[in-house]
Amino acid sequence: MRKQLENRADVELLVNSFYQKIREDAELGPIFDEVAQVSWELHLPKMYDFWEGILFGTLNYNGRPMPPHFRLTTKYTLTPEHFDRWLAIFFQNVDELFEGEKADDVKYRAYSIATIMNTRVQQVNEQVRVENP
Ligand code: HEM
Repeated sequence: MRKQLENRADVELLVNSFYQKIREDAELGPIFDEVAQVSWELHLPKMYDFWEGILFGTLNYNGRPMPPHFRLTTKYTLTPEHFDRWLAIFFQNVDELFEGEKADDVKYRAYSIATIMNTRVQQVNEQVRVENP
């Protein structure tokens, strides 16, 4: 049964199952595990804070979401298709677990941040192409 997204425990479930799917994905998994070599024990709690802040206004996340992606795309080009796939997995994961207003909210927020992030990452890619013709 799908439930409402109500609290930190729900956010942890959302984030854990999302990155489980990401790591199993043939295209995105290796970007996290091989290119970026993500330390999951550090990344996951950061993402709980990030999404809890977005959904419930808590102030535990005080990082900057964009810069790691700009650095990453200079090592391994992130394409609009990567962002589409990231979002498709995010939406599928939300819909498997949750329903209701906060579930709709989190998808909308993911969509808007991913759209801005993709635009800015493509600008970085263009800059890299200009500097390395
Ligand atoms: C193709 C899509 C994406 C890829 C491959 C990707 C990959 C990564 C990687 C490798 C990190 C660094 C993890 C670490 O070592 O700490 C990271 C951090 C992060 N990502 Fe993404 N990401 C993607 C899209 C997104 C989107 C769409 C969002 C938000 C809606 C997002 C939110 C974040 C946040 C908040 C962090 C933590 C930044 C910090 O250090 O404070 N990512 N991502």
